[in-house]
Amino acid sequence: MKILKTTKELINYRKSLTCNVGFVPTMGALHQGHISLIKESVQKNNNTIVSIFVNPIQFLAGEDFTSYPNRQKADLKICELAGVDALFMPNTDEIYFENEPILVAPMKQSFILEGYQRPKHFDGVLRVVIKLLNLTKPTNAYFGKKDAQQLFLIQNMVKTLFLDTTIVPCEIIRDENGLALSSRNAYLDENEKLQALNISKSLKIASIEIMRGELHAEKIKEKMKEVLKELEVEYIEITNRKFDKIEKIDLKNCMILVAAKVGKTRLIDNMWI
Ligand code: PAJ
Repeated sequence: MKILKTTKELINYRKSLTCNVGFVPTMGALHQGHISLIKESVQKNNNTIVSIFVNPIQFLAGEDFTSYPNRQKADLKICELAGVDALFMPNTDEIYFENEPILVAPMKQSFILEGYQRPKHFDGVLRVVIKLLNLTKPTNAYFGKKDAQQLFLIQNMVKTLFLDTTIVPCEIIRDENGLALSSRNAYLDENEKLQALNISKSLKIASIEIMRGELHAEKIKEKMKEVLKELEVEYIEITNRKFDKIEKIDLKNCMILVAAKVGKTRLIDNMWI
């Protein structure tokens, strides 16, 4: 596996590749969620590039940028064992310049839910993702459904800026108790881990309600609130796939999204109906 630290090295490496390229952007502290994306890429492409870059501009002041988990040694091993061809690990000054045009996420979907709680977060995500896509020029790029709004905004960016990459959405990977895997789960102590299970439990309750025939979004949200009452809920929302709120469940076009704090740790999860 090649370790590439500079954009120059990456550009040269990319030029040497003639077949399909799969790309998995990450911020490191890799877990089975990331690994599932990497495996999918390795399986479907001749070459796989993974990036590890904790993107400072997608964190808000006071968020966990400086304490974001760093497990470089383990991450390298994971990528090597998974069959990654090249790992791009740049410093911030490789990526950002003093004067550069700035991409701004569209108002409609970037100011609600995650965007409402974390203003400008998606501007930071899109700015780094377009740079990484331009550097790696992947045939396919892999993103998790866990970050549903991020996935939507990236799909929209790729489509509207005519980028020549297919965005491949990947299923949410959970632990044996249902907790959606996240690098931030590392912040949870044992008791908080138990509390955090209520997040996926609330989504499960919602799906049971829907299977029983309950189609009113507000009623489903009420049931979810009961399960989440011990946590500091930031939002519980039911939307269509374009993130418009809906009042009645459409069984073919619906998502249920939750963000809640467990202690100091902010977690998100969702379910696609
Ligand atoms: P990060 O949180 O490291 O996630 C990298 C990718 O892994 C994202 O596409 C995310 O949706 C996916 N992922 C995380 N947990 C997952 C899980 N439990 N199941 C399936 N996929 C999961 O998301 C980012 O980094 C950054 O915003 C990034 C896109 C790299 C831009 O900086």
